[in-house]
Amino acid sequence: MKYAAEILNEKLDGLKPETAIVLGSGLGGLVDSLEDAVSVPYQTIAGFPGSGVSGHAGKLVGGRLAGRPIVMLAGRVHYYEKGEAAAMRPVLETVQALGVANLILTNAAGSVREDMPPGSVMRITDHINYSGMNPLIGEESDAGFVGMTSAYDAALGKKMNEAAGRAGVELHEGVYMWFSGPSFETPAEIRMARTLGADAVGMSTVPEVIMARFLGLKVAAASVITNLGAGMTGSELSHQETKDMAPIGGERLARVLTDMMRNGDA
Ligand code: HPA
Repeated sequence: MKYAAEILNEKLDGLKPETAIVLGSGLGGLVDSLEDAVSVPYQTIAGFPGSGVSGHAGKLVGGRLAGRPIVMLAGRVHYYEKGEAAAMRPVLETVQALGVANLILTNAAGSVREDMPPGSVMRITDHINYSGMNPLIGEESDAGFVGMTSAYDAALGKKMNEAAGRAGVELHEGVYMWFSGPSFETPAEIRMARTLGADAVGMSTVPEVIMARFLGLKVAAASVITNLGAGMTGSELSHQETKDMAPIGGERLARVLTDMMRNGDA
């Protein structure tokens, strides 16, 4: 991905971002807050994946957020699109080659806790890889044996908590459980997730965390809660509900991340 990074470096015109943010559902609007934005569609970057799922655009946007250089990855590729856990590998390798040290991952998720309703924001403190998939399967070197004890960087997490305090946003903390999707969970699976120690469930982020740790990037992550898990209310879940509800928590999380940048914390 050196080649893609070289081309991007030229396009970004001297911007030296230390931080990249993957924008999940509800966070897409954050690119509009960028000053001096340079937008590059994934399709025009050699080796990058196309991104097909509705609600997820695919572009890399460089610029300044609250005056600080940053790269935003607007749109991710999910495991469920093609059954590839390493789908985001070229994107993450490229941001690493650009000199990025901190990766902030965001997503939309279902809550398994009654006290964390739709509209809430949850910082991910740990995860459970329930999908059983791993983006490092097939890695030929011993480098694939990545430690996950401190996968979510404690110092970055503390800074996110502090930024939430300053922004006046209640930031829950919890464990995110990765289901492959694209079907939603059953009520029994949601009860299982709760029993096993999950606070939220979703279909992304975990493979990116694993890949980011492999690449030596520091990780922070947060979910915007769009719904209570299957069976917790009388109604069926839908992707439309995710898209409709994500901007509510998304607006809150955007304020937290903007404050983090303004304060020089990421
Ligand atoms: N389950 C899985 N993924 C999700 C959910 C959910 O309930 N809500 C938003 N993304």
